Amino acid sequence: MPQPLRIAVMPGDGIGPEVVTEAVHCLELLREKHQLPIEWTRFPWPSHAWHERHGEVMPEDALSQLAQYDAILLGALGDPGPMDDPERYLLPDSVSLAPLLDMRKGFDQWVCERPARLLPGARQYLADDRARDIDMLVIRENSEGEYVGQGGRLRQGTEHEVATQMEVFTRRGAERIIRYGFEQARLRADARRRDGNKRDFPTLSGERCESQVCVVTKRNALRYWGDMYTEVFEQVARDYPDVATHHELIDAACMKFVQAPWAFDVVVASNLQGDILTDLAAVLSGGMGVAPSCNLNPDNPDMPSMFEPTHGSAPDIAGQGIADPTAMLFTTARMLEWLGRQDPLLAEAGRELYAAVAADLAQNGGTRRDTRNIGDSVLNRLK
Ligand code: IPM
Ligand code: MN
Repeated sequence: MPQPLRIAVMPGDGIGPEVVTEAVHCLELLREKHQLPIEWTRFPWPSHAWHERHGEVMPEDALSQLAQYDAILLGALGDPGPMDDPERYLLPDSVSLAPLLDMRKGFDQWVCERPARLLPGARQYLADDRARDIDMLVIRENSEGEYVGQGGRLRQGTEHEVATQMEVFTRRGAERIIRYGFEQARLRADARRRDGNKRDFPTLSGERCESQVCVVTKRNALRYWGDMYTEVFEQVARDYPDVATHHELIDAACMKFVQAPWAFDVVVASNLQGDILTDLAAVLSGGMGVAPSCNLNPDNPDMPSMFEPTHGSAPDIAGQGIADPTAMLFTTARMLEWLGRQDPLLAEAGRELYAAVAADLAQNGGTRRDTRNIGDSVLNRLK
């Protein structure tokens, strides 16, 4: 057997541990069934619980410990809940969520991939039945932009306080995320051709393409990075004459996501705008309970990518065993597929897990079930 790939499992806060438990059950079963070359270590940090004991959300050398791993599987960070307990150990968001941003930055996970596809069985929030065709991939720039965390507060607490929050956009950052978007568009067109369900997108010159990339900015108001993105987009697009191009302003994109989300294919957005768009996209494709996400470093195999669902710690339902683990399980499937770049057996297991979760959703999506129940039902399909 080859050297096993190592996964750092971090349950985190709130519903994190509940949904991660189900993910680990699936990993155990798949490893046993296919002799998968993977092993994992469970980390009690980052978490509120760790902070309560040690005065920090994670150890100082956390990133160097994690650098030894091939992937990070994270449940959720944030308010641990339950919300009706005013005495619960609570930290400011800036403290409890900092590890998330530290890991994204520290491991240069510059792609955040959030697919939004309305699968059979998932709740359809839009009344228009064309919503059944929603199938987009929102790609969020994950390393810079509005999230660089530079700025400060001057004369804090006084009447004359000034807060600054810097946004930083680099040409390299724009180039790599936009190119990644075009590559994904091509891969999606290939997959659709194989499955016999081609899609059709108009180009500006009136031709048709089988895939599309829509870049989102706010260039009518935030012109400096908006104009740079526009230039880079046009430049990169020349290498992909087979992919249709499109631009939306972020406010119009929100409107069109609700009005005609089935018209989008790949969407590339900045860190903050992509964050907001992907909560909306999650609801369009069944809600937070089914929305997977991942933070990838596509070009440095020595840095672990991180797999965490779009949802947070859901303090309102934490501790009750009713959180939907579907998003976590789809995310775990994506992790296996990603690790499958090193061993095809893992990619195969990822597809198997995805298919089992999707089949469970199709059959039981409409019924009220608790966390354990959904996890067990997926496990039974995998057996
Ligand atoms: C997400 C979350 C995070 C983000 C928060 C918790 C910092 O909303 O992963 O979408 O804004 O990136
Ligand atoms: Mn978010």
